[in-house]
Amino acid sequence: MATELHGQIGPVEKETPAEIPADGPADGPADAPAGPDAPAAVRVHGLTRTFDGRAVIDRLELTVRPGEFVALLGHSGCGKSTLLRILAGLDREIEGEVLVPRTKAVAFQSPRLMPWKRVWRNVLLGLPGRPGRAVAERALAEVGLGHRSTAWPKTLSGGEAQRASLARALVREPDLLLLDEPFGALDALTRIKAQQLVAELWQRRGCAVLLVTHDVEEALLLADRVLVMDHGVIAYEREIGLDRPRDISDPRFAELRAELLDRLGVVAPTAAPPAAPTTATAASPAASPRKAA
Ligand SMILES: Nc1ncnc2c1ncn2[C@@H]1O[C@H](COP(=O)(O)OP(=O)(O)O)[C@@H](O)[C@H]1O
Ligand SMILES: [Mg+2]
Repeated sequence: MATELHGQIGPVEKETPAEIPADGPADGPADAPAGPDAPAAVRVHGLTRTFDGRAVIDRLELTVRPGEFVALLGHSGCGKSTLLRILAGLDREIEGEVLVPRTKAVAFQSPRLMPWKRVWRNVLLGLPGRPGRAVAERALAEVGLGHRSTAWPKTLSGGEAQRASLARALVREPDLLLLDEPFGALDALTRIKAQQLVAELWQRRGCAVLLVTHDVEEALLLADRVLVMDHGVIAYEREIGLDRPRDISDPRFAELRAELLDRLGVVAPTAAPPAAPTTATAASPAASPRKAA
């Protein structure tokens, strides 16, 4: 077992409202002070994770600001899920420092619902204390699933199951929400709705989000900052200074898309994709302005 340090970074404590207002960051993370003393939701220093003698994560550095929405891209197998699992506290066989908020929640591509428990009981699974059913139902209502509270998981559609999984994350009232390709298994239209929901929840809750995705457009639609992981480190990062709602027909969107695809070693198409039902349509989360009430 290597050195490991999981803990809470002071500024994200709920008792310090000056750092994170109850209604989320006032003017967005771009206004947060930079530097080592700046408030952080995540601070990772010199993180290494080795499997069978191979460093999948190799002295990685990462800071996520309170309330910041960060998307993490990278080739399959580059270590994104490994990093997420470490931040979630699910993997502690590490070297280096990992500081995360006490309250964090994770949702995976597979909703991981227990088939023998009704939806509302799934939402409360693993929660400390003895939270009442009303707690689960509030979270289910927030994700638009209040009417399926007593359903069995196998009767849910893929999109509904994923929303139940999000409700299970929300009842933890996380300061950090970790999402590992949560929309990866959804069809295109359901995926757009799920992206929109995550954008809305983020605005409302004001928590930091780290979203692992393989979809460059999804990253550009949702994130304040996009990271590319490669060779065990954050090899590239890009602040996405585009206003919300984001407009995929904006030439700057296309430029960023091409830049990120280039970083990923993918040859970017010269024109925006056709108006087929992709993740980037008018119904996308771009329709969900960050600063809306
Ligand atoms: N428990 C494990 N034991 C051995 N190797 C693992 C384990 N977990 C992940 N790996 C390896 O670490 C690398 C990164 O995996 P992962 O983080 O899942 O990649 P990504 O999410 O970026 O696709 C892969 O080569 C994978 O096979
Ligand atoms: Mg993965």
